[in-house]
Amino acid sequence: MEFPLQTDSLTKSFDGDAPAVDDISLSVRPGEFLTLLGPSGGGKTTMLRLLAGFETPTSGRIQIGERIVADDAHFVPPEQRKVGMVFQDYALFPHVDVAGNIGFGLRGARRERDKRVKELLALVGLESFAARMPHELSGGQQQRVALARALAPGPDILLLDEPFSNLDTGLRAQVRTDVRNILMQTETTAIFVTHDQQEALSLSDEIAVIFEGKLVQVATPHAIYNRPVNRQVAQFVGEANFLPAVAQGMTAESRLGEVKLFLPKEGKAQLMIRPEALAVGFGDVGKPATVRWREFYGHYQRLGLTLDDGTELVARTGVDRYFGRGDKVCVSVAMPALAYDVSG
Ligand SMILES: Nc1ncnc2c1ncn2[C@@H]1O[C@H](COP(=O)(O)OP(=O)(O)OP(=O)(O)O)[C@@H](O)[C@H]1O
Ligand SMILES: [Mg+2]
Repeated sequence: MEFPLQTDSLTKSFDGDAPAVDDISLSVRPGEFLTLLGPSGGGKTTMLRLLAGFETPTSGRIQIGERIVADDAHFVPPEQRKVGMVFQDYALFPHVDVAGNIGFGLRGARRERDKRVKELLALVGLESFAARMPHELSGGQQQRVALARALAPGPDILLLDEPFSNLDTGLRAQVRTDVRNILMQTETTAIFVTHDQQEALSLSDEIAVIFEGKLVQVATPHAIYNRPVNRQVAQFVGEANFLPAVAQGMTAESRLGEVKLFLPKEGKAQLMIRPEALAVGFGDVGKPATVRWREFYGHYQRLGLTLDDGTELVARTGVDRYFGRGDKVCVSVAMPALAYDVSG
């Protein structure tokens, strides 16, 4: 299969520092929405800038479609890469109206350009805003103009660098759904950068987790959440309890008693148990614990539990049962757990 975008051992170092992007090999499938997820300073923006052609790699290769756009012997400048980019701050031209902003990168006859601008205004639902100036738009509308401008020249790949981070929570959810739908409708291959794991889990076809310039795991949101490759990824993509244990085949002995394992393991291990994998009840199934705190969220509740031996756990349960602070409960593990090496 031909990938719209592929990198091989892509590396970028800035004057002697540890590489900002370190030996990253990644492929994106046609029409895929791939998210680069990782902590601040991890190299996500640098990665996008390399792909767009705003940075030259220190080593490695970038291929877009059939064309090598960067390696030791080639460098294709940004305007010839057929890559669109949407930034965090939208970067609309302040003295140009909406139609002018969207049409900015278009070449060719006036009539053709006007037609394309109309199409994009319709695509992002801003038909009646063509003559507005950027300062007359809401944040969400500005972001849709930025998206339309990036899509106007028909890029092969769209790069989005934290495009929702300037929007407040309510609007953010709306705009990201809008953007996702527009990209699905236009079958655009997109690489999206965020350090927000909820955003990554909810929007992506695939997630590439990047720590300190290194690609740690690439997988579907489901696999990243349920089978993170190590403790660091497990903690970054959601809440997790870690328990020391001794594994033997498909089970492990821990402070929560015998726990089923997802994959076989031998010897000392660190169990990773998501809060929703803990079953909490008033019966006698599992180990006795006390409810230390409780947070109610309507459709679920989070409980802080302390086992009788002092071990602290976080559980997430449905709301059919009421748990109060100080309640004596029993806790057990209801799903197979992952076991990491102790050093992992
Ligand atoms: N032009 C530059 N010169 C020197 N160092 C740079 C340059 N650009 C980025 N860096 C460094 O490269 C590393 C990665 O930065 P980058 O902006 O790619 O991180 P990021 O993952 O996008 O972070 P954030 O989530 O905060 O946006 C950082 O240590 C940063 O200081
Ligand atoms: Mg960044």
